[in-house]
Amino acid sequence: MSQPTLHDFYRPLGNLGPKVSPLGLGTVKLGRDQGVKYPNGFRIPDDDEARMLLKLARDLGINLIDTAPAYGRSEERLGPLLRGQRGDWVIVSKVGEEFSDGQSRHDFSAAHTRLSVERSLKRLETDYIDLVLVHSDGNDLAILNDSEVYPTLAALKREGKIGGFGFSGKTVEGGLKALEQGDCAMVTYNLNERSETAVIDYATEHGKAILVKKALASGHACLSPGVDPVQASFELLFEHPGIASAIVGTINPLHLAHNVATVAKVLRKN
Ligand SMILES: NC(=O)c1ccc[n+]([C@@H]2O[C@H](COP(=O)([O-])OP(=O)(O)OC[C@H]3O[C@@H](n4cnc5c(N)ncnc54)[C@H](OP(=O)(O)O)[C@@H]3O)[C@@H](O)[C@H]2O)c1
Repeated sequence: MSQPTLHDFYRPLGNLGPKVSPLGLGTVKLGRDQGVKYPNGFRIPDDDEARMLLKLARDLGINLIDTAPAYGRSEERLGPLLRGQRGDWVIVSKVGEEFSDGQSRHDFSAAHTRLSVERSLKRLETDYIDLVLVHSDGNDLAILNDSEVYPTLAALKREGKIGGFGFSGKTVEGGLKALEQGDCAMVTYNLNERSETAVIDYATEHGKAILVKKALASGHACLSPGVDPVQASFELLFEHPGIASAIVGTINPLHLAHNVATVAKVLRKN
């Protein structure tokens, strides 16, 4: 039997233009191996391996890719790796977190936000990023109420450099506030963690986009014995009509194919 793909399951990204695959590709592991909390150690794929992974993702119908300045070399590798394919991908990046010498630091100022987005455009070799999310340090409300990051992203959207903006946060209050002005919230939602459900409900009611991070609990869900944890995770997620896409970070082609087949199976049943 041929490998199922996601081409029949594209859905809106809130009220932003592009339709996205229900599974996106997370790219932490293409750029960073320090300060991560995965259950197993790993080696960052070389260019040939990364190119094959991206081709497989595209062939299986994935059109959404998530990166960030804080993911080590992820953005600067994706530029050349995706050269010639800009029209095939919906690109999500972030602002606010920098990671160097094994340490994170945060800057939500107007100057840094602008510099960061301009740098992402250069690194990604494009003149347009579909969606830019604030990479929160956990102080969600303070960032939204007291920093210039959101007004600066709104200006960059008006200038046509980004298609939309939103927030990848850690609290319900932050997620709700972020959706008042923003286009998208990226939330944690998985078998072990459902505290941000109210943010997903709000987005559904107001036509805003939800992306899910850590859909497999950063791989920890896959360690559970018994039921297929990947299937159980996607059944949980896609029960909710408001979730546009689950951004799953894998560098293993077999895992990628299994995840695509499982999402297709779950959505075909829904
Ligand atoms: N603050 C933020 O904005 C934020 C925070 C965290 C994550 N994110 C985004 O969300 C993405 C996903 O988050 P995440 O990487 O933390 O968690 P995740 O997608 O829940 O889990 C990724 C882990 O699960 C493993 N995995 C994937 N499919 C599998 C399968 N079928 N069987 C067994 N193991 C499997 C992967 O290992 P293999 O590589 O071996 O498959 C990887 O270690 C990130 O890449 C990033 O783009 C954003």
